[in-house]
Amino acid sequence: MTLDRLGRPLRDLRISVTDRCNFRCVYCMPKEVFGSDYRFLDRKELLTFEEIERVASVFVGLGVNKLRLTGGEPLVRKDVERLIALLAPLGAELTLTTNASLLAPKAKALAAAGLNRVTVSLDSLDDETFQAMNDVDFPVARVLEGIDAAAAEGLPVKVNAVVKRGLNEHAILDMARHFRGSGHTLRFIEYMDVGATNGWRLDDVVPAAEIVERIAAEFPLEPVDPGYRGEVAKRWRYRDGAGEIGLIASVTQPFCGDCTRSRISAEGRLYTCLFGLRGHDLRALVRGGATDEELRDRIAGIWGKRTDRYSELRTEATSSLPKVEMSYIGG
Ligand SMILES: C[S@@+](CC[C@H](N)C(=O)[O-])C[C@H]1O[C@@H](n2cnc3c(N)ncnc32)[C@H](O)[C@@H]1O
Ligand code: SF4
Repeated sequence: MTLDRLGRPLRDLRISVTDRCNFRCVYCMPKEVFGSDYRFLDRKELLTFEEIERVASVFVGLGVNKLRLTGGEPLVRKDVERLIALLAPLGAELTLTTNASLLAPKAKALAAAGLNRVTVSLDSLDDETFQAMNDVDFPVARVLEGIDAAAAEGLPVKVNAVVKRGLNEHAILDMARHFRGSGHTLRFIEYMDVGATNGWRLDDVVPAAEIVERIAAEFPLEPVDPGYRGEVAKRWRYRDGAGEIGLIASVTQPFCGDCTRSRISAEGRLYTCLFGLRGHDLRALVRGGATDEELRDRIAGIWGKRTDRYSELRTEATSSLPKVEMSYIGG
């Protein structure tokens, strides 16, 4: 086990496979910033699939048991299923977070390559609200097709919805109603102050407690004990047996004390906190001929010094600090 200074083990690695995306969600990649003159990473700057596999295998050797591919939109990276096939033999749980725009045609290949589960982001079930959020006129129906295609391949599906005050609060109950009894766990995420481009304000956050209250008023809920240390979603079950929901309350109930996650950006920079600023360049080591032992010592050294707990310390002062974008670091 590799522990940081606060005794937190290194358990999860989130791998951003691209900083690009075909959506422009207003809370993540606002068009005004991520427009035609935005400089995305060049192909040669990205870690290759073989480089990712090598780095991931070192992380697994240090105790990581969960790998998540993310981005940007991971399914826009060409042949991402080939990466999944390379990672599957490492034996860690292998998951993917996606906007599902390309999931329906890809689900079969992803499952065959060894993907274990998928998390789909969907913020509303009505096109007007969803399109106001994805900002590229993408229809809800195609996301639902992606969810169905993944489920048909036997992949367990979680659905994540970011709630932003004044934008999709009204969608909370619709979503709960739709996914109750579907077998897919719905999770609501508090709008976070990641990145510097989305103009985040505390007033835009709908607290998890309010989301639970709204749902429980129509469908009574009871709390469920966490499944394991570091489970970030607070779980609630419908009293009538129609399944569970989760709440990711990173703003109102930060969970830094149990955070076991590391992230690598698409160009191979290691971040030990979503709110880290600079990251550590692993690509230079990999391309500079470092041995596996050298890589392992470097990563263990970085984790061993980790003291990050931004969300617990968040104040007016820290929220105005410069931050790295979620589409770059990997959500
Ligand atoms: C950055 S995206 C990357 C993967 C993929 N493109 C997707 O949307 O699922 C990962 C997750 O981060 C969430 N996210 C992005 N910006 C956020 C913010 N400011 N606050 C909370 N969640 C956010 C998204 O809704 C999504 O569920
Ligand atoms: S949340 Fe995902 S789908 Fe939306 S802009 Fe960010 S990376 Fe793209």
